[in-house]
Amino acid sequence: MTTSTHWKDTVGVADGFDAYDDLPERLIGYPAVFAAVGIGSPAVRTVLDYGCGPGKVAARIAAACDARVVAADISPRMLDIARSRRPHPRVDYREIDSGKLTFLADGSVDAAMSCYVFINVGDVALLSEIAAEIHRVLRPGARYAVLDTNPGTTGVRFSTFRSGEPGRSYGPGERRRVLLEQPGGGDPLELIDHHWPRQTYLDVLSEAGFSDLTVEEPLLTDPSALPGDNAAEATRPPFLIVSGVKQ
Ligand SMILES: C[S@@+](CC[C@H](N)C(=O)[O-])C[C@H]1O[C@@H](n2cnc3c(N)ncnc32)[C@H](O)[C@@H]1O
Repeated sequence: MTTSTHWKDTVGVADGFDAYDDLPERLIGYPAVFAAVGIGSPAVRTVLDYGCGPGKVAARIAAACDARVVAADISPRMLDIARSRRPHPRVDYREIDSGKLTFLADGSVDAAMSCYVFINVGDVALLSEIAAEIHRVLRPGARYAVLDTNPGTTGVRFSTFRSGEPGRSYGPGERRRVLLEQPGGGDPLELIDHHWPRQTYLDVLSEAGFSDLTVEEPLLTDPSALPGDNAAEATRPPFLIVSGVKQ
């Protein structure tokens, strides 16, 4: 199988990801993450979107509450797309340099999330560095949530994507082929991500200093919200959300 997706350098990947219609994520994944970290609560005034990509999530956070959003990524092309297509007076798009959030002081953030970032990192030591850096910038009592495709439903054909091959099982960190539908019904965008069992998420967050860990696997509650009569999202959880609190 080819190497992991080169998010940082590949223009076509950034544009293809931006074009992807993230309907199941909008209906199921992002609302669960927003609830997990307390978006909308008066105590949440600064939110970190770590691995913001083209800014779709950051723009939705800004629309959902009055908080300031710091949206950070390692990919200059993703940040170009975010700044040009989703500018917002309360969203500050920043480039992550050598894994450090140098633009954020210790304890300066009230909530943080990483959406589809862990599956794009193939090394558990790097996952730990990411979680530790996010832990540093959060204030005590703040929540951090990680949203990814669900390692328990690899190979399932969801409305707009499939992660991994049907009938295959994957080991920790193993590469998987991901297909994201593109508008107009053309060839899907093909990415290579990494399989992490739920225990890896729990271990990484716990070792970084997060406690009160929770795991959620939400299902689609209104099947008519997705096209077709038998959306898999109604019975098979497409996403995994693992969250914890900085003590
Ligand atoms: C699948 S995209 C998700 C973007 C966005 N979070 C969303 O849900 O729409 C994954 C993003 O993670 C970023 N990324 C990959 N490795 C990263 C790392 N080590 N640190 C920060 N961001 C990373 C990529 O550049 C890419 O923008």
